[in-house]
Amino acid sequence: MLKTSIGGIALDCCVYNASGPRTNSKNLLVAIGESRAGAVLCKSATLEERKGNPHPRYLETEHGSINSEGLPNKGIDYYVDSAVVDAVVATGKPYILSLSGLSLKNNLAMLDKAKGIEGISAIELNLACPNVPGKPTMAYDFDQMDEVLAAVCEHPACQERPLGVKLAPYFDMPHFDRAAAIVNKYKISFVVCTNTIGNAMLVDAETEEACIAPKGGYGGLGGGYIKQTALANVRAMRERLKDSIDVVGVGGVSNGVDAFELILCGASAVQVGTKHYKEGPVCFTRIAGELEDLMRRKNYSSIEDFRGKLKPFSARKAKPTPTATPPAKKSSSSATNVIVLLQAVFIAVLITLVDKSKLDQLLARFM
Ligand code: DHB
Repeated sequence: MLKTSIGGIALDCCVYNASGPRTNSKNLLVAIGESRAGAVLCKSATLEERKGNPHPRYLETEHGSINSEGLPNKGIDYYVDSAVVDAVVATGKPYILSLSGLSLKNNLAMLDKAKGIEGISAIELNLACPNVPGKPTMAYDFDQMDEVLAAVCEHPACQERPLGVKLAPYFDMPHFDRAAAIVNKYKISFVVCTNTIGNAMLVDAETEEACIAPKGGYGGLGGGYIKQTALANVRAMRERLKDSIDVVGVGGVSNGVDAFELILCGASAVQVGTKHYKEGPVCFTRIAGELEDLMRRKNYSSIEDFRGKLKPFSARKAKPTPTATPPAKKSSSSATNVIVLLQAVFIAVLITLVDKSKLDQLLARFM
């Protein structure tokens, strides 16, 4: 029911992990592969191992998360090592390598190391990490993005397998236009929309401090905070990209309905980050099951039945939106009616029981 494909790679389940939480080691990657996740995506790798930013660098609230990990990872050699690749491949899930080089030169050097490794099904080039001090988000510098994609797409490692590009969230129509026009120029098989909303801040009013330590408290927002931005980015890119380029949605997927909404906006698959951090790989089983339940209720047998088929608003069919104030519950309004009725009966009984003359005296006092 949840079968899909991204960049021509078949996935049994359209829900899998985002690069980031719980993706840093072989054991964690194998645990994802053994869950219901449709693919296994590793932590964004850099050329050298990195310890990342000081702690605390991740915080979850009831509305989402903020992180500024600063690309802690074991270095490219670890993620392309046959011990890791073979262990993930043994789970039967496609292994996707995430690369986030600190320069074009580093990205090309990492691609040299990925070349010829059969177990790597696809590459996700991350152009949108906002958390390395002093390194601007590449996906916001369109000239640089163009230059990087031109060079990366020529690399033999990207001829051997599909290349995907993880983009930053955009907030303005000309930026959607520009980003899509650049991606459309190259042999890119999928885009991932979207990375965290960079350089946001959570503040603790009690302690009067920023909630995370790195970069003076600035970090990337994820989870529920960014669902609507992710929906819009998936939709905007789906509307602008060539049909041959798949869109993968990420941002705020907490349940099956969130996954459904991203697919309705055009996603061929969805990634889960914040909930994976919190729940571990069981989140993929839960979210996939909830998505299937919703699809059964709507009589859909495949995600192709509704992928990208978001309808424009229609006033005629308008139903209350989930954020509208819900009507008062029937049970509570009928409970109020019963109370009023009982009060009236009580007063009537009182009046008939009280001596008529006393009642006249009482009334006279107030008249
Ligand atoms: C990190 C954060 C990101 O949003 C990303 O795309 C890559 C790395 C990090 O802080 O480690």
